[in-house]
Amino acid sequence: MPNRGNAQPIGVFDSGVGGLTVFREIARALPHESLVYLGDCARVPYGTKSPATIIRYSLEAAQHLVERGVKMMVVACNTATAAALPALQQRLAIPVIGVVEPGARAAVAATSGKVGVIATEGTVKSKAYSNAIRALDPSVEVIESAAPLFVALAEEGWANTHVAREVAGIYLEPLIDAGIDTLVLGCTHYPILRATIEKVVGDKVRIVDSAETTAATVKALIGDSGASGIPVHHFLVTDAEERFRRIAGEFLAAEIERLELIAF
Ligand code: DGL
Repeated sequence: MPNRGNAQPIGVFDSGVGGLTVFREIARALPHESLVYLGDCARVPYGTKSPATIIRYSLEAAQHLVERGVKMMVVACNTATAAALPALQQRLAIPVIGVVEPGARAAVAATSGKVGVIATEGTVKSKAYSNAIRALDPSVEVIESAAPLFVALAEEGWANTHVAREVAGIYLEPLIDAGIDTLVLGCTHYPILRATIEKVVGDKVRIVDSAETTAATVKALIGDSGASGIPVHHFLVTDAEERFRRIAGEFLAAEIERLELIAF
């Protein structure tokens, strides 16, 4: 169990800016908790790498956050969750939660039977969502499809451009034609493109973003930890801090203070 009543921060990591979608929901759900966010911008994308490499990267990122004194770890990356969650849970002495199971729960609650999942190549190959959804409800049909360019569009700050709309059409039309009623944004970068995705799928398809359910899971685990006052958030990146400052600032609609370039 996490240490209740302690003001140590919560660690959150992703390959880049995508995990900020989870960061934002945790900060909303637990407004007195301090967070340390690590974006492994030097090595993004994770989605095209092998499971062995993703496990290595995830353990390095998590170890760095542990050295910063975090009291729990949120793996705000579906690819890292799919490949490395068991390894992280085994190696770390603090609670570790991922984003796939909360996303699967939200999808099962939303669907009337046919779920589309868009994710990175790594997550799709792992079948993490199909397995997690079917474990909750074996009657649900799941179609998984990779949408790797969404990561680059989010990292570039191109979420609301005509290029993003065109790419979204190409990725999503086969899923719409297959008759999905629910679409899981199975990569934490994708909610950055949510407005564009919504325009393409229309209002008959429910969109599931695991950020909110993940934040609710963190809240349930940590309870009211007793942290009070104004939270202090730190941001760590392994490269390209000015690009991160710009994109994160736009996404969070806030000035990114306390941003640090780190190396493992
Ligand atoms: N945001 C990550 C995810 O949720 C990974 C994107 C990437 O680095 O390919 O899968």
